[in-house]
Amino acid sequence: MHRWSKLFIPTLREAPADAEVASHKLLLRAGYIRQLGAGIYSYLPLGQRSLNKIVAIVRQEMDKIGQEFFLPALNPAEIWEESGRWTGMGDNMFRLKDRKGASLCLAMTHEEVITSIARNELRSYKQLPQIWYQIQTKFRDEPRPKSGLLRVRQFLMKDAYSFDLDAAGLDESYKKNDAAYRAIFTRCGLEFVVVEADSGAMGGSQSQEFMVYTEAGEDLIASSASGYAANIEKATSRLAPVADLEPSGDGMPELVYTPGKASIADVTAFFAIHAAQDIKCVAFMGTRSGEPLRPVVAFLRGDHQVNETKLSAVAGVSDLRPMTGEELALHIGGPAGYLGPIGIAEVMTQGSLNGLKSGKPLDKLKGVLRENPAEGLKTIVIMDSGLEGRKNLVCGANTLDYHYRNVTPGRDFTPTMVADIRNINEGELDPLGGEPLRLGKAVEIGHIFKLGYKYSQSMGARVLDANGKEVTPIMGCYGIGIERILTAAIESSAAKFFATTDAEQYALPPAIAPFEVVVTITNVREPDLLEAGEKLARLLESAGVDVLLDDRDERAGVKFKDAELIGVPYRVNIGKKLADGQVELVDRLNGLTTSLPVDSLSEHLASLLAASKS
Ligand SMILES: Nc1ncnc2c1ncn2[C@@H]1O[C@H](COP(=O)(O)OP(=O)(O)O)[C@@H](O)[C@H]1O
Ligand SMILES: [Mg+2]
Repeated sequence: MHRWSKLFIPTLREAPADAEVASHKLLLRAGYIRQLGAGIYSYLPLGQRSLNKIVAIVRQEMDKIGQEFFLPALNPAEIWEESGRWTGMGDNMFRLKDRKGASLCLAMTHEEVITSIARNELRSYKQLPQIWYQIQTKFRDEPRPKSGLLRVRQFLMKDAYSFDLDAAGLDESYKKNDAAYRAIFTRCGLEFVVVEADSGAMGGSQSQEFMVYTEAGEDLIASSASGYAANIEKATSRLAPVADLEPSGDGMPELVYTPGKASIADVTAFFAIHAAQDIKCVAFMGTRSGEPLRPVVAFLRGDHQVNETKLSAVAGVSDLRPMTGEELALHIGGPAGYLGPIGIAEVMTQGSLNGLKSGKPLDKLKGVLRENPAEGLKTIVIMDSGLEGRKNLVCGANTLDYHYRNVTPGRDFTPTMVADIRNINEGELDPLGGEPLRLGKAVEIGHIFKLGYKYSQSMGARVLDANGKEVTPIMGCYGIGIERILTAAIESSAAKFFATTDAEQYALPPAIAPFEVVVTITNVREPDLLEAGEKLARLLESAGVDVLLDDRDERAGVKFKDAELIGVPYRVNIGKKLADGQVELVDRLNGLTTSLPVDSLSEHLASLLAASKS
């Protein structure tokens, strides 16, 4: 029997001032964790109980598809030199020397170690496929450890690696891990979305991130009810149709004197139009490898924002930064606030680039530039696809205090390229099923990834195929942040509480809470209450419920507050109503308090718990 009076649960009334996000404050206040250094935490008994439950769920689901290993956290440098990551990992890797002066590191991940085992042990296609996993501590010298357990320098990861004979096999292994992840996160009570991710520098081909919406997250993602989900750097949307303005005069661009109207708000007020009828200009300088700085000018709807990652990719430039006033004058010929597409056509690459109409891929542009390198330094003008087909727009005239109206893309100016370079907005429709998009910050709880041949190739893992021919196995890797499951659960719950009560509270899903229920004896000095509490707690325990008995000699109010603080989802109050054979059940997940006969409590709670886990 777990008695509160005997346990070490150091709750705090106030969170330390440096704790910012809800989970950080609450984990400290609830006595789950204590900080030892930047991004380094001790897990106290409640935190450890919760993490153990998460680990148990992860292990159960992973055992269905793979086999558990335990690889050393301390790695010799040589193995990392073989893969090229001893240098590649840079300052993120913790490095040390042993007494003989040999270099070692604390592993950030385990592709190298697992591949060395595969290389030494796997000989035949008959041994494939393999899915190997472990649950182990990782060390990463994060540049900005922060937010409690969200980004730390020492954390638990479930990492798995698959070895298959061919790409079709890898597909199968990847799908198995995908299914295991969905089962794990569902059992942990998380609402998650699966985002198609950028495979980045790791050279893989397919990659998905499992994300949980929370303001504490560092990623920005969009998703919808049709199952569409993407990182903001990739997300696209269908725009609702916008009414174009009626042309004025002869319908051709007309110069209008707009003194002091430099902002979009001023311009739209002046013309009495909506920002969607205005063209915004955003001007950058960027670099292409080996070339001098290159002007990159983006045009988009007045109510849209540039996504610099998309723009970089489309324009084939990196290190974008805003143009200075001098650069604006040089490359566009106009002052900030009055920039527009008409006229910069003369500065930009006319002629050869005219062949590049809307949507033509960047390769074509590169081809043109290769044939005519002088073009390589001209201004790149990208128009967002949201302006395609629009007419009679308002835009800057590249002259102080003047705008044009009646501007029609294609007729009055020709961009180098038309592409999606904008940030999507909340509520726009997804490109898959046309459902409204939800846009928000999110935290990554897991990541699955088709690695390909990177490690098996470079580290020389080979097996014989059915024909006795030597082949390189193809790999996948799959990671889950154990602590992030706990923090994401707290953040999600705290956000729900905050929305309704304005208070900093949370309740954990029963599957990962340190205890499923607290039985609170409201006054231990009353023998009847004490006895009934003891009896009920024992009954619950024998029914398989993970119960904490609050037998402390404290005021009821203090005990209720503490029980709430430690995030336990159910509480049973043994109080005055016991005289009528009743106890109170507080269901914190649903915000319900009900009185029940003490005799039926155990059965009732057991069925609630079973429902919460199914
Ligand atoms: N510094 C960290 N602190 C806590 N958890 C982390 C940290 N870095 C990664 N994780 C967790 O480990 C999982 C697998 O890591 P990985 O995808 O290699 O990390 P990253 O996306 O940061 O490169 C992530 O999805 C995340 O849940
Ligand atoms: Mg990742």
